[in-house]
Amino acid sequence: MMDLSQLVDTKTGRQSKKIFTDPDLYELEMERIYARCWLFLAHESQIPEPGDFMRTFMGEDEVLVIRQDDGSINAFLNFCPHRGNRICKADKGHQRQFSCAYHGWSFATNGDLIGVPLETEAYYDKLNKQDFGLIPVTQVDTYKGLVFGCFDADGPSLSDYLGDMKWYIDVWLDAMPGGSELLGNTQKVTIDANWKLPIENVAGDGYHLGWAHAGAMTVSTSLGVSGLSVGNTDVDISGGLSIAGLNGHSVLASLDGEDGSGYGFYPDPQPALDYLQQNRATAIEKLGEFRGKNLWGSQINFTIYPNLQFLPGLNWFRVYHPKGPGRYEQWTWAMAEKAMPESLKQQIIENQARTFGPAGLFDNDDGDNLEAITELGRGWRTRQADVYANMALGREHTLPGLPGIITDGLVCEQNQRWMYRRWLDLMQADGWAEVPDYQAEQAELRQCEQAEAGFTGQPQPEQGAA
Ligand code: FES
Ligand SMILES: [Fe+2]
Repeated sequence: MMDLSQLVDTKTGRQSKKIFTDPDLYELEMERIYARCWLFLAHESQIPEPGDFMRTFMGEDEVLVIRQDDGSINAFLNFCPHRGNRICKADKGHQRQFSCAYHGWSFATNGDLIGVPLETEAYYDKLNKQDFGLIPVTQVDTYKGLVFGCFDADGPSLSDYLGDMKWYIDVWLDAMPGGSELLGNTQKVTIDANWKLPIENVAGDGYHLGWAHAGAMTVSTSLGVSGLSVGNTDVDISGGLSIAGLNGHSVLASLDGEDGSGYGFYPDPQPALDYLQQNRATAIEKLGEFRGKNLWGSQINFTIYPNLQFLPGLNWFRVYHPKGPGRYEQWTWAMAEKAMPESLKQQIIENQARTFGPAGLFDNDDGDNLEAITELGRGWRTRQADVYANMALGREHTLPGLPGIITDGLVCEQNQRWMYRRWLDLMQADGWAEVPDYQAEQAELRQCEQAEAGFTGQPQPEQGAA
């Protein structure tokens, strides 16, 4: 096994190209990241009734997420314990039971084996059916509509895993009555690139917007988005914050919620701006002044480590499924607040398809670049090289009241550095007990700062940071 500590240098922002190509490292990622972390399974709005199910992946393990008769949600490997066939081929649907297509064993929605053809004639009634139920996902839990699963019995609770990130994602999940929902069918695209590349791109790469997306931004930006000007030579990088140090999770936020900048990519943003104006007071009451004014309605990129991202404003919600070191599948939905009028939800569906979907303007730009980065890594000499996310090193700080480590602006590569730091933490650890908790360290740091700043319990970003 290679020396993992040589692959990522969090102080200089260096990563070895090997982490994007090496098959042994990919296998270790499946074990130490995907079989250890909480992974997004479904949104509750997608499986509202008992018997409703979705088929998805945890790493490369295929799972069924099923609403139970008592309203709870459970998940099982989509794996028949007889000879190992897939028991369900459909992406989603409603079933009273699942029957394997190979020899006809059938399973209840709670995973119990309930039917075996020729049970008396061929098994002589000696098969203990209770020993052959579906294999359950070890832990399943929900947070404000989002359903997650975890294969590690020793892992933290979902609430602890999300940690301080909950304070940020509540801006989308819990601002309005009814919370959030996903709209439409799953849009699947396969990209020949390493799974970490699209995640670092969305987590922290504000740098590429004015270049990779210059064309798309020119035709699709109807409002100014702070920190995201278009053009090769005249990029305004002021405004917004990059926030990381949240145990792998991160936030990239333009912070101009009151201008409705999140809806700057809509051909006609007025219906969204009207909705924001009508509901701003409710958001402030629920979230407080800072989040209600600055975050709600702003363009925000949320990353839940390792493979979930959702972007209020652009209103897409996406999970990435790795398929070997050089390929991933991305599944995208449009997302809305339930309280939004139907006409606005329809506009959101259309804009999501126009920008970030199989034929989306922005997705095509990104796919080309990420595939090239991965393909080049197959070269023997190229694999010995390093790449860097070293922009704005040393500019990290904290702000009283805001969780996480912060660098000003959307163009700084801080979030990528913290993402690879988490990658190294998890890859080096034999178990959760060895994985550092940066939030605990920051809590101590913030306590000192807050005492100095006379912190009152309300978030108070420094002047000029917002
Ligand atoms: S493999 Fe499923 S019933 Fe035989
Ligand atoms: Fe992009």
